[in-house]
Amino acid sequence: NPYRVIIPAAGQGKRMGAGKNKLLLPLKGIPVLVHTLQVFENDPSCGGIYLAINPLDEAGLTDLMKEHRLTKVAGLIHGGKERQQSVYNAVKQLSGEGVVLVHDGARPFLDRDQIGALVAAAENGASAILAVPVKDTVKKARDGIVTETIERSSLWAVQTPQAFRLPLLREAHRRAEEDAFIGTDDASLVERLQADVTIVEGHYDNIKLTTPEDLYFAEAIIKKRKNQL
Ligand code: CTP
Ligand code: MG
Repeated sequence: NPYRVIIPAAGQGKRMGAGKNKLLLPLKGIPVLVHTLQVFENDPSCGGIYLAINPLDEAGLTDLMKEHRLTKVAGLIHGGKERQQSVYNAVKQLSGEGVVLVHDGARPFLDRDQIGALVAAAENGASAILAVPVKDTVKKARDGIVTETIERSSLWAVQTPQAFRLPLLREAHRRAEEDAFIGTDDASLVERLQADVTIVEGHYDNIKLTTPEDLYFAEAIIKKRKNQL
């Protein structure tokens, strides 16, 4: 069964500080977002891409879709103030019951092989997320004073894609909006409904391009992959 994917791409990239949406910055001469879209474009199981965008980026993105022959983009949806609202606006455009992935436009290095594992888990009823074991020791602090050291072996750094059955994702977003709850990922909205979320272990190179130094890491990842060909 084909899955559909929602890609939130409507952010401003404030932490990147590039003066424009970071997803339009080039990697190997191609915009970050195009790299991300190509992974889904080239996956035969992907039945449609729904992109949440800033209306100001719409004309430029429409040109990019044509230039790079991204034929699976089935909807350009105007995003909202928060990532969560951008995803929900896209969710509202989808009908039916199948598996829907949500994936950050800012993660161009996702591995297509892992999509299959996420979709399979979601088809069996549970929601599924990619995550990697946390490498650093993580502490909680208040006003610069440590209040707690969290046991590292139980911590996971969470990535996207995240996979859900559409009715559950829709209900989770509806309830979050109703309760004025804002989460930093979609799984957290499903967790509030006491629904199970399973972890699929991901790769450390599936980084989210967030701050300027991530662009150096991105160059290194691209170089590594080129050497593997
Ligand atoms: N996003 C979105 N709508 C928003 C905010 C974010 O669709 N209102 C998207 C971003 O475009 C990105 C993904 O959600 O692909 C993850 O968000 P983040 O890395 O925080 O990107 P930005 O919000 O653009 O960056 P910043 O928080 O530094 O401004
Ligand atoms: Mg943000």
